[in-house]
Amino acid sequence: MGIQFDEKKQLFKMDTDHTTYVIGLSPEGYVGHVYYGRRLGKLCKNALLRMEEKPFTPSVNKRDKSAFLDFYPMEYPTGGIGDYRESCLDVRNERGNLGSEIFYKSHTIRKGKPGLKGLPASFGTEDETETLEIICEDPILQMEVHLSYSVFGKEDVITRNVRVSNHGEETLRLEKVYSACLDMDDEDFEMLTLCGSWGRERHIQRARIQRGRQGTASLRGESSHQEHPFLALVTPETTQETGQVYGMHFVYSGNFKAQVELTQYDKVRMVLGIHPEEFCWKLEPGCEFQAPEAVLVYSAEGIGKMTRNLHDFYRNHMIRSKYLYKKRPILINNWEATYFDFNSEKLLSIAREAKKAGIEMLVMDDGWFGKRNSDNCSLGDWYVNEEKITSGLADLVKQVREIGLEFGIWFEPEMISPDSDLYRAHPDWAIRIPGREPVQSREQYVLDLSRPEVRDYAYESVAKILRCAPISYVKWDMNRQLCDMGSAYLAQDQQQELFHRYVLGVYEMQERLVTEFPDLLLENCSGGGARFDPGMLYYSPQIWCSDDTDAIERLRIQEGTALLYPLSSIGAHVSDCPNHMVGRRTPFATRGNVALAGTFGYELDITKISEEERGQIPGQAALCRRYQSLIQTGDYYRIASWSLKSPYDCWEVVSKDRTEALVTYVQVLAVPNSHSTKIRIPGLNPDGVYMLEKTGECFTGEELAYCGFLIKDLNGDFQSRLYHFSLVQE
Ligand code: GLA
Repeated sequence: MGIQFDEKKQLFKMDTDHTTYVIGLSPEGYVGHVYYGRRLGKLCKNALLRMEEKPFTPSVNKRDKSAFLDFYPMEYPTGGIGDYRESCLDVRNERGNLGSEIFYKSHTIRKGKPGLKGLPASFGTEDETETLEIICEDPILQMEVHLSYSVFGKEDVITRNVRVSNHGEETLRLEKVYSACLDMDDEDFEMLTLCGSWGRERHIQRARIQRGRQGTASLRGESSHQEHPFLALVTPETTQETGQVYGMHFVYSGNFKAQVELTQYDKVRMVLGIHPEEFCWKLEPGCEFQAPEAVLVYSAEGIGKMTRNLHDFYRNHMIRSKYLYKKRPILINNWEATYFDFNSEKLLSIAREAKKAGIEMLVMDDGWFGKRNSDNCSLGDWYVNEEKITSGLADLVKQVREIGLEFGIWFEPEMISPDSDLYRAHPDWAIRIPGREPVQSREQYVLDLSRPEVRDYAYESVAKILRCAPISYVKWDMNRQLCDMGSAYLAQDQQQELFHRYVLGVYEMQERLVTEFPDLLLENCSGGGARFDPGMLYYSPQIWCSDDTDAIERLRIQEGTALLYPLSSIGAHVSDCPNHMVGRRTPFATRGNVALAGTFGYELDITKISEEERGQIPGQAALCRRYQSLIQTGDYYRIASWSLKSPYDCWEVVSKDRTEALVTYVQVLAVPNSHSTKIRIPGLNPDGVYMLEKTGECFTGEELAYCGFLIKDLNGDFQSRLYHFSLVQE
């Protein structure tokens, strides 16, 4: 691993264990993209910048500078000066003209990686990472653009971020500041994205790219249910094990744009950053703007390798929580059990029954505060409703702890109900456009988090409750998307900063929370999984994946989520049947097996389910205890995806030392007149002998990987099995 600069060839070369990224400088100082892909040894030329070909570089041929600018593979293209492909940086001067052009000025290479002010960002020790900063300059605007690259050798990841600083005398308007760009030759690429809706988050989508611009974007104020801040280009026929994958993932929780453009010359330009629509940052003299981080990953060994590299990267370099590899409590949440209809007695009865079954924490969800008996009021009034919690919150926590369970609580700190004391006192704390009635969603408005006193109020609402009782866990929810973007606090010429300032406000509050309460287990949530992104992982080790808890629906949702995120971060619970969202009945065991591929817990009224189902909980809790560490730390392999062609779904987690593996197989629909199913189980030591628990049968690692393993005697829809293999002979 490392970063080198070859002065003579004017090349920067960055290496991870299996990848190389090369940047070259043109004679004029244009920073160009030379190469990203398999690891290379020695470099002789920066030929890919094609500087000896027509239209030549401007120092040779100024007559056709525009043709050069519209073709040269730019590391960070600027808008308004003749590169008609998607720009990454659009700057408008005081006269109202849009245009900037940046040239290499200097660079630094150092060990380690600095954090990003006010933003989540990956981290690493001086042994794990190295950082290149290329400082570019627009001499006319007197603006500097710092392009930062950090290499993470083991995980084959390169992170990028951009900082713009104004050294001139005029105020600049930044209308677009993306975080990453890749200009490459097309290889008949296909595009991989995640898309969905509420209850259907992160379904995997793959499509051939066409001439022009295509991609995915959110303007909803959050990363969203519908889209995901990720885009990968894959070569045709790429599978889990073979093919090339270029992935970009955004460490950000607000509006984003991820786009690929296939140009007139069959080149691709792939960009990722804050969505430029409804974004404009006023950059005064002496000030700087920091754009969020982008994670770049390249795999020459298919999608599976990208997935495992990202899992390792997020575990090792993004999730800070001390719970990352620690035992997480098996929790029971009362949302699907009671919705708003509960009181202390009900919660205590759930806690008592849960304790008997081996559950370790009770989470009191929405409805405990203000006058909230439905979702139409009280957000902002964060004091306990003593009609429901009759002896007060501290006493309830005490009683739950006496039963032997830890206590967790739900908040939605970013919101304000029109029917709340808070709104009656501070109507101007809600985001709104003056003179226009703001749109309600779930009968609520959004707090203006650009405003310091609003952030203080929202933060203190949570903190004061946590200070008064030993609460181990917080579910931080966010249940609507943003619109009517107007702030009574921001100046007229800063209204377009509101979307971004909102996200910065969320980050600031969560940073305060994890600093003041370092032992707290924080779970982020947004109407299910609308803010499941790397930015939130920096604050919370787990995120609620979806409000859809049906085991079969969860197969697709969790597959898409696990394409990028470690299983240890995926909030997954067993819920009651018929499922509240889709009305489906699935076996209790299958619900448990699917939830095991996540943080594991329950979301049902344990006092009301059948004896038979209740009786299965201690066994499931024991499975969770037994396999949690393997699931949290292991390598994830996707074996089969449920689709029309495959009536089953299957995945595997292999321990890092390859001494054990857990395979989960779900038969979605039974197929008449069929034989046993053969699956191939990769990732084990080829020569090792592994024993299948339960039957005692033995297989070599290569037998399992290449000959396969037979799934037999599984009858009926929605049936599932766990297969645990352990090494018995090296
Ligand atoms: C969101 C969450 C749910 C639950 C409700 C409460 O939808 O995703 O889990 O907490 O809010 O209102």
